[in-house]
Amino acid sequence: MRTQYCGNIRIKDLNKKVILCGWVHKIRNFGKLIFIDMRDHTGLIQIVVHLKNKILFQQVLNLKNEFCIQIHGIVQKRIEKNKNIKMSTGEIEILAHVLTVLNISSTLPINYLNDNNDELRLKYRYLDLRNFNLLENLKKRNQITYLIRQFLTKKNFLDIETPILTKSTPEGARDYLVPSRNHYGKFYALPQSPQLFKQILMIAGIDKYYQIVKCFRDEDLRSDRQPEFTQIDIEVSFMNSKKFINLIEALIIKIWSKIINFNLKKFPIISFNESIKTYGSDKPDLRNPLKIVDIHDIFQDKKFTLFFKINIQENNRIALLCIPQGAILSLKKINNYIEYVKQYGAKQLFYIKITAYHFNYKDICSSMKNILDDITFNKILQKSSAKIGDILFLMADKDYIVNKSLSMLRLKLGNDLHITDKNSWKPVWIVDFPMFHKDSTGKLSSVHHPFTAVKNMDMEMLKNTPDIAISDSYDLVINGYEIGGGSVRIHNANMQKRVFDIIGINKSLQYEKFGFLIEALQYGAPPHAGIALGLDRIVMLLTNSKNIRDVIAFPKTTSATCLMTDSPSFVDISTLKELSIQILKKKQL
Ligand code: AMO
Repeated sequence: MRTQYCGNIRIKDLNKKVILCGWVHKIRNFGKLIFIDMRDHTGLIQIVVHLKNKILFQQVLNLKNEFCIQIHGIVQKRIEKNKNIKMSTGEIEILAHVLTVLNISSTLPINYLNDNNDELRLKYRYLDLRNFNLLENLKKRNQITYLIRQFLTKKNFLDIETPILTKSTPEGARDYLVPSRNHYGKFYALPQSPQLFKQILMIAGIDKYYQIVKCFRDEDLRSDRQPEFTQIDIEVSFMNSKKFINLIEALIIKIWSKIINFNLKKFPIISFNESIKTYGSDKPDLRNPLKIVDIHDIFQDKKFTLFFKINIQENNRIALLCIPQGAILSLKKINNYIEYVKQYGAKQLFYIKITAYHFNYKDICSSMKNILDDITFNKILQKSSAKIGDILFLMADKDYIVNKSLSMLRLKLGNDLHITDKNSWKPVWIVDFPMFHKDSTGKLSSVHHPFTAVKNMDMEMLKNTPDIAISDSYDLVINGYEIGGGSVRIHNANMQKRVFDIIGINKSLQYEKFGFLIEALQYGAPPHAGIALGLDRIVMLLTNSKNIRDVIAFPKTTSATCLMTDSPSFVDISTLKELSIQILKKKQL
């Protein structure tokens, strides 16, 4: 139907006869001349129709935006004043001699060139996707997956599909369940990840596996989370974490270099503890130079603990952030920050403006004025390396509250005061996570997943001191986003059972849920390691998108609905009966 794409025609094609297919993007009628901006997935081209060509001219008068058309014409040079250097086809135009309307279009319910509200965008996703920015995102996504496949295939990885109708894998979210028609009362779970299948592939001797795969998690959504998302899932046998980290780093460096022509340097590696200590988070945005400084030792005296209202029995943290040149902040702005941290459970946030190096009770501008003295002030100055003109924000509270509050405050100040270098890329590996997390009841759960190997102890020690066990795992964080997470796996059946024991999965549940894995581990399972990278998040970063939805063709809303197809939806009673399912009334729940 066509000889060329609209956006690809250039001056070199001068005088060529072309047939183009696409959509009417815009029509401009100058009386004796009509210009049509015609569009396809490659871009725009100007079509020109002369009044001289009466029949064609008449036909064009009936055209409307978004009609789907075919044009026969000749490539000609635009006259000088009509050249448009902003368009890649701006030097030429098509002198049309035949127009075929392939399909008419009703008036669109959204103008996809404007900002529309999210609901309309998702309802009319096929129109929203006509926006060039979204189209570019999808093209970039395709380039990225192509590169990944190329990189991994060259390194002898096999792309192997794993089941979608499967059994639950604990990745920390709720499962999406699919009822079985043939097996009364039973359900499949959609995979939260292919974790166990890829491990089983290693046991099968596959050696190097990858898959670009859909995963499903029923969890609270946010701007970088979707209920169904795509992982670049990778697993290798006989490789330690150090080598594996290097391999994945090389992949990421390649993607950044080919897609945005940016050369990433060797990624720093920091431990989980260091990350929490310095940034209050295990997903630090290293584009922001602010660091949290511990000042616990300065405030040992009882008068301080009373002032801070902290209970010394609890795990507390007293820490500060020093903001260079922050002393110019008005009291109103400071109060906004004090309010801001309250959403993270903080009772208070103190400030000290450093306007002079010598403490002077009368002059100091601080919400801690009453409690500060010369010695304490100087110790704070020393610890924080504050300079004149800086402001210090101090907090004393339960450690997790201080970590969360100061990490969020750090990000906010970084943005508000333009401290964060938005033009840089800062990847970082976070390693040495604790194996287990203890909840308020004392119950342990896996920080990664329960198939993660322990780094610093044997089975006996793990049983006795699980609290201090460190896992052989690694997360990749770029500009504050968790891009991927993985680990060396347990490849010993007894160790696997021990970990299940520790997180309170009793023997019968171990066999019911993971019997196949425990058995498989008994048949010469090789040491193996892997990772899953979040493809959507990588594309989001590389396209500078604010929301993960902008890099997914058909994303869901924050309440996990698809507004275009109107799913999830009710099914009829007979279908439910076939599945032996009865829907309870809300009040019965
Ligand atoms: P994890 O749960 O850390 O690890 O997931 C790996 C990566 O997937 C991305 N991701 C998401 N992206 C969008 N929406 C979501 N809801 C979502 N959840 C996760 C993140 C994350 O870093 N099986 C393990 C990996 C392994 O051990 O090999 C796993 O799934 O970028």
